[in-house]
This record gives sequence, structure tokens and C-alpha cells, in this order.
Amino acid sequence: MKDIKVTDSILYVGADDKTLDLFESQYIIPNGISYNAYVILDEKIAVMDTVDARKTEEWMKNLDEVLGDKAPDYLVVSHMEPDHAANIKLLMDKYPQMKVVGNAKTFAMIPQFFDVDLTDRTVVVKEGDTLGLGKHTLQFFMAPMVHWPEVMVTYEQSEKVLFSADGFGKFGALDAEEDWTCEARRYYFNIVGKYGAQVQALLKKAATLDIQIICPLHGPILKEDLGYYIGKYDIWSKYEPEDEGVFIAYASIHGNTAKAAKELAEMLKEKGAKRVAIADLSRDDMAEAVEDAFRHDKLIVASSTYDGGLFPCMEDFLAHLKAKNFQKRKVGIMENGSWAPQAARHMKAAFEAMKEIEICDTVVTIKSTMTEENRKTMEELAEQFV
Ligand code: FEO
Repeated sequence: MKDIKVTDSILYVGADDKTLDLFESQYIIPNGISYNAYVILDEKIAVMDTVDARKTEEWMKNLDEVLGDKAPDYLVVSHMEPDHAANIKLLMDKYPQMKVVGNAKTFAMIPQFFDVDLTDRTVVVKEGDTLGLGKHTLQFFMAPMVHWPEVMVTYEQSEKVLFSADGFGKFGALDAEEDWTCEARRYYFNIVGKYGAQVQALLKKAATLDIQIICPLHGPILKEDLGYYIGKYDIWSKYEPEDEGVFIAYASIHGNTAKAAKELAEMLKEKGAKRVAIADLSRDDMAEAVEDAFRHDKLIVASSTYDGGLFPCMEDFLAHLKAKNFQKRKVGIMENGSWAPQAARHMKAAFEAMKEIEICDTVVTIKSTMTEENRKTMEELAEQFV
């Protein structure tokens, strides 16, 4: 087991998963993912969530090591998504005296996943309720839609530890040597991004607590500089850009739209753009493209026309942005089409259906390959994005 102590009496019993191909069957995780779970040792023992079924054995072994011959009194269920809740029944069966702590929505969901008798096995908590373990006292705060409706976070009052469910989580196994912000941002916008208002509501509750340690369900335990992480969550959940700069997302069939997008990137750099990022939507990670769209304050989309509409990867990208509540950004449009360019019209319509998007009037229309006239329009477009 990873020798991770949150504190002397709060221990990590989770597991890294480095062989999963796609998290939630859609996100690449080059450095794996951790399914975090914890145990609080006191007069009463609380197990804080379980793990994904892929790691049952390792989690059980970790749990046995920590518990010795003792039995847990409570299993606190923060979130019913199977990457954390897969082993509820297993633990209930193993420890028949153990009670499950959740809210009304948790207990509505458990029977959907498990054929289990909950009679006399539940502790139903509501906003602000407490549960004493001895020296430790757990206090529960509802966090609906961060990231499912039944989600709740738990604040342990004596050691000032927040068990934050998916909040403050990131992709990457615990031993991955990588920057927190990059993979936490990709995780946030793709998994929780739609629910900015609910994250704001949770941050307001968190602001009333003295939090010294954050224990998320994925990624590292956060013990220092908590203001940095909370500040990032505040920006992200308000849909405010984190960086001044331009993100160019292109969808190109034979390379001509790609060439134009790359030339536009150079023009932006020459004109002094603070940051320029670019993605090939056919080949680059879609989740990272979504992340980059939210990260920057300006976005330029460039797409080939395809079957009278958009090249599919651009359509997919715009659908992702819409689903994640993309808003409050300036957008520029470039299209390509060899006989009847239609992409700009479709992209414009997609952005018009999003909130507070300023669409630049200068639209670049390429017919197959860039002309000098196109380059002039691209210079004009670039001028408006620095
Ligand atoms: Fe990590 Fe929403 O589950």
C-alpha cells in the first residue's frame, strides 16, 4: 500500500489505476488515475468511500492492513458513481454491523446499482448534520451536481479536513510527476464543467469552514497553499478565462485549413498575442481542446465544410463546448469549402446558442487553398485578437 497518511488517524486506502484505457470510457489518462479512499480511525471507524471495481482487491488489502481485526462502523458514501461506489455491497456483506452514511438521494440510488437490504443499515444525513466518531466529528454538506445529484462532501471538524468528493480531483495516478493545474483543469472542464453554478454554491459553503487539508476522490491530497486550488476552482466555475490568449481549434481534411490555422497562429504571435495555443481536432485530445477553449479568453475556430455542414470533429468540439456551458469568450471564425463553403454559417449558429459569446464580424472564407486576399482577411482577424 502507498504509505500515505492524511493525518495520524486519517489514512489513505485508495489505489492507482495505470492500465485503464479511457476514464469514463472517453478520457485518455496517459498517467493513469487514482481512486482515492480513506479511513478515519477513532472510537468509531469510518471508511470514506470505496473504489472502482478494477481495484477492489488492492483496496480491500489496504483496508485490511489499516483495520487489523477491527470492523468499520460506518461507510460514508460521497458519490454513487461506480469509480467510487463499486464496492458498497461487498463491504456491507463483509461487515454486517456497519452502517452506510449517505443522503436521501444516495439511498435512492444504491438499489439501482446493488441488490442489497438496507433495512437498519442506513444513516441518512442532511445539510449540516454531524456524526461523532469520538475525537473526530464529521459534518456533511450537500454538493448536488458536483458531479452527480447525490454528491455530498464531508468536513472533519477536529483536524479540519475536507473530503471533497470529485471536487479538486485530477487525472493522473498519485505517483505521476506532473503539474496539478493542467490535469486538474482538463478533469474539471470535462467532468464538472457544466455545473459551474453548483461548484460556486459549494465554494461558498467551503468558505465558511476552516479547511487545512483537502482529500479529493482523485489525485493528490492537498495540504498546502489551499488558496491556490480554491482560487482556480473559483475562476473555472465562474467561466472566467484563466489566461489572456488565443486558442485556435481547426478541423482540416486535406491540410489546407490546417495550414491556414497555423499561419494565423504565426500572425497572432507576430502581432504580440500573449499566448497562442493550437489544436488539430482530428488528432489531438478532444478533452484537452475543451480545456484550452475554457483556459483562454479568445477562441478561433477553423473548419472545412463537409456534406454541407461541418467536418465532424468540429461539430463534436462545438457540441462539447455547448454541453459544458462555454460562455463569456470572444470567438473568430475561418471556413474552407471547395465549392459551397457552409462551415462559417454552422459555427456561427452554434456560438449564437451559447451565452455571452462575442462573434467577430471578420470571417475568413477559403476556397480550397489560401489566397493573398485570404491572408489579408486573416491579418484583419488576427488584429482583433491581440
Ligand atoms: Fe470520480 Fe464522478 O466520479
